[in-house]
Order: sequence, then C-alpha cells, then structure tokens
Amino acid sequence: MKRSSCVDGTRISRVMSKETSRTCRSRSAVRHNFLSVKVSVSRNSTCRSRSDISNFTIIKNIKYVFQNILRSLSTSKLLCSDDLFVHRDNSDNNPNTPFEFTEANLTRLKALIQNYPEGAQRSALGAALDIVQRQIGWIPISAMHKVAEILSIPRMRVYEYATFYTMAKRRYRGKFNIKVCVTTPCMIRGSDEILQAVEDATKCVEGGLSADGMFGVDTVQCQGACVHAPLLVVDDDYFEDVTINDVYKIIQTLRCGGIPPPGPQSGRYAAEPAYGRTTLLEPPPSPGYGLQNALLPETPQRPSPKKK
Ligand code: FES
Repeated sequence: MKRSSCVDGTRISRVMSKETSRTCRSRSAVRHNFLSVKVSVSRNSTCRSRSDISNFTIIKNIKYVFQNILRSLSTSKLLCSDDLFVHRDNSDNNPNTPFEFTEANLTRLKALIQNYPEGAQRSALGAALDIVQRQIGWIPISAMHKVAEILSIPRMRVYEYATFYTMAKRRYRGKFNIKVCVTTPCMIRGSDEILQAVEDATKCVEGGLSADGMFGVDTVQCQGACVHAPLLVVDDDYFEDVTINDVYKIIQTLRCGGIPPPGPQSGRYAAEPAYGRTTLLEPPPSPGYGLQNALLPETPQRPSPKKK
C-alpha cells in the first residue's frame, strides 16, 4: 500500500486491488500481481506544506495504477478473443481446406480487379473476400491464401482484413446469419428481448449454430440504423422496428423458404417519426421564396416584333 501527500487540502483515498492471477505460482509473483495503491490527502497544515510535491506523487501513483491495470488485462482471459483475431488450424479450417472459385465468380473477380489501376489490385481485397463468402458462406484460411495469390499480395494483408472486419465470417454461420444489434440505442429500445426471442425462435444461443445448420445467431454493434431501433440483420437485409412477434414471423418465413419483407416492420416510411410526421406538413414554398426582388432572376424579355 502506497501513501502520497496532499492536493488542495482535499482528502482523496483510492484503493485499487486486483485479484491474484491463477497463473501466479510463487509468493513473489502473487505479491507482484496484487496491486494496492492508496492516495491520501489530509486536510491539515502539515499536508498543505507538502502540496508542491503531492501533485507529482499522485500523478506518478495514478500512472502506476493504470500500468498495472493494463498489464493485468493483457494477462487475463479475454472473452471471445479466439473468434476475433486468432486462427488455429482445425479439421474444417486449415490451409488444405478445399476451396476454388467457381468459373463465374472468378470471371467476376477478374472484372472487379480491372477497376483498379495496375499495381493497385489489392484494392479489390474486400470484394474478393465477399465473393468467397457468398460462394460458400464463410472464409476459410485456404480461401484467404487463394485470394492473396490472385491479388499478388502477402497473405498477411488478407489476414488483417479478415480479422478486422466482423462482416468477414471466418467460420460457418448457418444458411441465415442473424445478427442482433446491441448498441445503446437498440438496447434502450429492447434489443435484449429481441435477442432472447431470436434465440428461442431459432433454438440457437448467441455465437452458436442451430442444430439443423440453418441459423447462426450473433450480436453486433451499431449497424447505422438507430432511428429504426431495435434492429435485426439477416445476411444483407435489415429488419427494423422489430417486435418480438416480428422476430418469430421473420424466422418462421425463413424456415419455410420464404423471403420476409425487409425494412421497417412498423410500416413507417423511411426515417419518418414513429408516431407520424411532425414537420414538413405543408407543401414547400416555390423556388425563390423569401428572396429580395433584386435577387430574383429576371424574366427574359421577348424581342419585340420588327415594325414593317
Ligand atoms: S444502435 Fe442499433 S443500429 Fe445503431
């Protein structure tokens, strides 16, 4: 436990402790990981006399706290870290996983590459991975290697893209990948209940795959349609203003091979207010409304007919 002196006569006391990491074996390691810092500032005259050095001490202590927090975070278990940026070979996804572009997709990819100037073919990387995903539903590492080969770029460039963008699916997410937005606006509008309804309707937990392989359920961050929260995304389609009933209807339609109508399920048009329009209720004024006469465009004068 560390103790510092004072600032402005105010008493500040912070004790931060970190639970001992399970990986620590020795007593010294336990002591090292156990952080306890106390910054204390007393309201008394002796403290005031030391106030000059106290600022520096406090800043130093706070810096020490944050350094230790960061170190602890980097050594703790990270939730879902594997899914986000780690690839480990397995029987379904390894460099020998069979993948070839179909003839049509290869032609399409070559046409896309032609859109970019010589030497900048790497710009077609996103499009290439999208084609892979549309062809087989996900992007195995063997397909990434194929794309790197076609675009003549290092494999690392493809890994970087595929691990950064969550829309690049690095494992099979079902015939229909259902994504529920859980960012604040959607959360306030009930995304927790929507997620629960999706899990119940598909019989699949978040991050998993339904038993028949038809649905994969994921949570995502803001999809840019907050005005229509809560939101459900199925592959390329947005289902907005969804209620629990809508969720069951959408999933039932998909299960039966139908195509549920995307867009706001409440029936409102585009981004209009949910309870009807409140502005722009009258026809807009004609062009030039409110302008000074001097600024109005002159009416072109017709040439007068020539007198005979
Ligand atoms: S928060 Fe859900 S779409 Fe923006």
